[in-house]
Amino acid sequence: MTLLKVDALSKSFDGSARRGSSSRIQAVVDLTFTVAAGEFLTIIGPSGCGKSTLLRMLAGLVQPDAGCIALQGQPLPDASARQGRFGYMPQRDALLPWRSVIDNAILGAELAGGSRAAARAEARQLLPLFGLDGFENAWPSELSGGMRQRAALLRTFLAGYDILLLDEPFGALDALTRRVLQQWLLGVRDRFSKTILFITHDVDEALLLGDRVLVFSHRPGRIAAQLSVDLPHPRNEDTVLESDFLALKRNALAHLKL
Ligand SMILES: Nc1ncnc2c1ncn2[C@@H]1O[C@H](COP(=O)(O)OP(=O)(O)OP(=O)(O)O)[C@@H](O)[C@H]1O
Ligand SMILES: [Mg+2]
Repeated sequence: MTLLKVDALSKSFDGSARRGSSSRIQAVVDLTFTVAAGEFLTIIGPSGCGKSTLLRMLAGLVQPDAGCIALQGQPLPDASARQGRFGYMPQRDALLPWRSVIDNAILGAELAGGSRAAARAEARQLLPLFGLDGFENAWPSELSGGMRQRAALLRTFLAGYDILLLDEPFGALDALTRRVLQQWLLGVRDRFSKTILFITHDVDEALLLGDRVLVFSHRPGRIAAQLSVDLPHPRNEDTVLESDFLALKRNALAHLKL
């Protein structure tokens, strides 16, 4: 079942402040795709091709110049209509430094006006699954990079939305921590029935995690390819060495070079 439909979405920005002349930067052009309920869609493309802009348009933080975003067949033309429909984790983890891990985790529930005690109880139950057992009262500054990302993911998962928009959640991590967190995400994914849009720069990560990969072109970002990843689950660190995986990777890389 199609949950999200993005149709002919385009966005340009005023570049005059930066360049000192009146010019516009075309970030993305004519993005058209659908996402099925429960699907894990990964998005890959060169730096500056408009991946974050796409998620920010979905999250209602940026208004498209043209095109349509529809959820369950219902168009959401206004940014305000899209706010509160998607769980959004920005590219830089946005943990609030003055709040403990548990109080960061419940921020979404709190902003939605729910009970703090109930939200804390739910978050506490999930701490072990997110590798944060024993850290509920820690400050963000006391966490490792991987733990900060897991805390930010916990907050995004707990906010109660069906669709999660994750902007390079593992982008700033070293390769080893990243591999550990990829395995962890594959493991927890089945515990939650979420639809996920996940941006990455890493082809292996896109193919390992995704049911489907959207490959963006250089700016202005267009969809250069939509690749189905028909690799069986469970996937693990050996999956990336298998011949089926390598064939998919070759194909994805060929599209990225366009
Ligand atoms: N608020 C803004 N004002 C002006 N220009 C912007 C704004 N947001 C994005 N842009 C421009 O739009 C283009 C796309 O930016 P975006 O952040 O979406 O790229 P990206 O694909 O996420 O890049 P990266 O992989 O480096 O995160 C860039 O040229 C950027 O400078
Ligand atoms: Mg980005």
